[in-house]
Amino acid sequence: MHSSTPDQVTIRPAAEADADAVGAIRADAIATSTGLWIDEPPTAESSAAWARGHRERGSMLVACDDASGAVLGYATFGPLRDYSGYRRTAEVSIYLHADAQGRGIGRALLERLVELAREAGMHSLQGWIEAGNAASIALHARCGFTEVARIPESGYKFGRWWDLVIMQRLL
Ligand SMILES: CC(C)(COP(=O)(O)OP(=O)(O)OC[C@H]1O[C@@H](n2cnc3c(N)ncnc32)[C@H](O)[C@@H]1OP(=O)(O)O)[C@@H](O)C(=O)NCCC(=O)NCCS
Repeated sequence: MHSSTPDQVTIRPAAEADADAVGAIRADAIATSTGLWIDEPPTAESSAAWARGHRERGSMLVACDDASGAVLGYATFGPLRDYSGYRRTAEVSIYLHADAQGRGIGRALLERLVELAREAGMHSLQGWIEAGNAASIALHARCGFTEVARIPESGYKFGRWWDLVIMQRLL
């Protein structure tokens, strides 16, 4: 299942200094993509708090360009719901800068994230994916996730409804 990290890319836990770059990738996804069904642009404060929470829980990885040090993308896992029965269930999330897509970086990030989540005691990992997102569905399938649910008109963004695909990997 393991692939190697693409040449000239390092995957490592997110550091405090990565917060702005990670926040910019996430804000761009909120503004332009159907990956995150959030309408409001994140504030600097909410973005910093989100990144800090992941850093403190050790649940965020970043992919960096070795030459420039630039953050190319990030991956997180986090509680699906804030109920005790879900404590070993996590949603995974991966976002790359547009220029970094399609080079195997998403796969390297998700494979490392799965191991991180396993070490943290997670049992059920779930990807909640807009049904038309072929790249994300292919990525999750490549990393051992299988489709377990397809929910029509599950979210609303950009003036229309979007279908949801849930993909799961049990650890
Ligand atoms: C989805 C995303 C994380 C995938 O990462 P990536 O680095 O581009 O994907 P990879 O190059 O690692 O490819 C992983 C697999 O998906 C396949 N794939 C990648 N892009 C694809 C596409 N557009 N259509 C179909 N398959 C695709 C690859 O062929 C590869 O499979 P393989 O190993 O069998 O060849 C990345 O494209 C991205 O950040 N997209 C925008 C944000 C987003 O949609 N995030 C997910 C929200 S749920």
